Amino acid sequence: MAHLWSGRFEEDPDAELFAFGASFRFDRRLFEDDVRGSAAWAAALARAGVLSSVDAAAIDRGLREVLQAGVGEGSNDEDVHAYVERELVARIGEAGRRLHTGRSRNEQVAVDLRLYLKRRVPVVQRAIAAAVRELVALAERAGDALMPSYTHLRRAQPVLVAHFLLSHVFPLRRDADRLTAVLSEADELPLGSGAVAGTSYAIDVRAIASALGFSRISRNSIDVSGDRDFVASFLHAAALGMVHLSRLGEDFILFTAEEFAFFDLADAAATGSSLMPQKKNPDPLELVRGKSGRVIGHLAGWLASMKGLPSGYSKDLQEDKEALFDAEDTWLASLSAVASVLRGLQPNPRVSTRAASGLLLATDVADYLVARGVPFRDAHEIVGSVVRRLLKEGRSFDALSLGEWREHSPLFGEDVRNAITARASIEKKRTPQSTAPDAVAAALAETREWLKAQG
Ligand code: ARG
Repeated sequence: MAHLWSGRFEEDPDAELFAFGASFRFDRRLFEDDVRGSAAWAAALARAGVLSSVDAAAIDRGLREVLQAGVGEGSNDEDVHAYVERELVARIGEAGRRLHTGRSRNEQVAVDLRLYLKRRVPVVQRAIAAAVRELVALAERAGDALMPSYTHLRRAQPVLVAHFLLSHVFPLRRDADRLTAVLSEADELPLGSGAVAGTSYAIDVRAIASALGFSRISRNSIDVSGDRDFVASFLHAAALGMVHLSRLGEDFILFTAEEFAFFDLADAAATGSSLMPQKKNPDPLELVRGKSGRVIGHLAGWLASMKGLPSGYSKDLQEDKEALFDAEDTWLASLSAVASVLRGLQPNPRVSTRAASGLLLATDVADYLVARGVPFRDAHEIVGSVVRRLLKEGRSFDALSLGEWREHSPLFGEDVRNAITARASIEKKRTPQSTAPDAVAAALAETREWLKAQG
């Protein structure tokens, strides 16, 4: 018997078309999941009285041997399911040919993929935590250094460098949480669905679920055979995760450039130019930014593959795996590259603090007037005219004498000098999400707790 279906056909499959349809090249990655799912299925068949205890024991032993041997090169196997079954039969003979009773590859591939995600998602979550750990360490190196925050990529208001770094921590933490949601979506046992209509053997699906660590049972066998929503959810998590890494990369590409120089890139994390001796390029971050496009493509591509499918299984669904595996590999590699680059970054507090002074204190001047009873809209007008004057004269707030301040409002007093500094600006902030030093320290402390919980 050369193929899983050879009884029905007179001719062998066309070699080229068989190769076109085969998935073993990539789904061999599901090997251990397929063996686990098969062992649980065999046990359930035995419990239902479909398999003799002798056959069940032989299958169990055979599957252990197959697992022990590890996944090999295969022998023209269509997919990992065919591979495992052939290897089993090669070891134990006829009993192995009873394993597929009441079961279909349609549900098998679904259970394998769900088991795969259940073991791989925590690996991605640990990689996310590792990148967060580097951001926290960099925030510690930055201490109380200041930098400008930006809107429209124009200097807005002074912030702690640590506050900026935390602004990249929280999107990554959301990515980890999103993966927890993906895990719970994947946490459903599809076995018992058969090819599409269920199975006629009295299989105790709840027992299989608890043996395999699933907390729920699927509720509709037709849905099961065509449902890859959990793959789409993983791809969405990966695409958004890559968007976050891309934006983080973009920020550090900018902030390590000569024009900003708020951070220095380690030599080991940069590349030179073959022509221009002075260059120090942030290639790894550019690559992460570039690869985000590819992972977004996997999400968009997979949604497009699913959208026109009739209910039940169609072979189109096989396309889920290359998208899933490449998204996972790209995400993991990017997380690890970002963590390495962050580890080598040095804050440049003198440069970033200098950039955080000057006209970006204008809001603080307006607040100064508001504290003395001026309506905010009027204060905004007054400070706007101070800024216009300073721009014309090429000066900044700290160059103004008290007399000059008073030309704009009699409410300015001696204390205006000390009130209008970058340090005073951050220390005046009051809300928990602000750049106030206490608030930033609390957010860092809470993130350290979160990291501990990530293991
Ligand atoms: N390799 C297939 C896939 O990945 C397994 C399911 C095959 N089922 C079928 N009826 N051809 O989707």
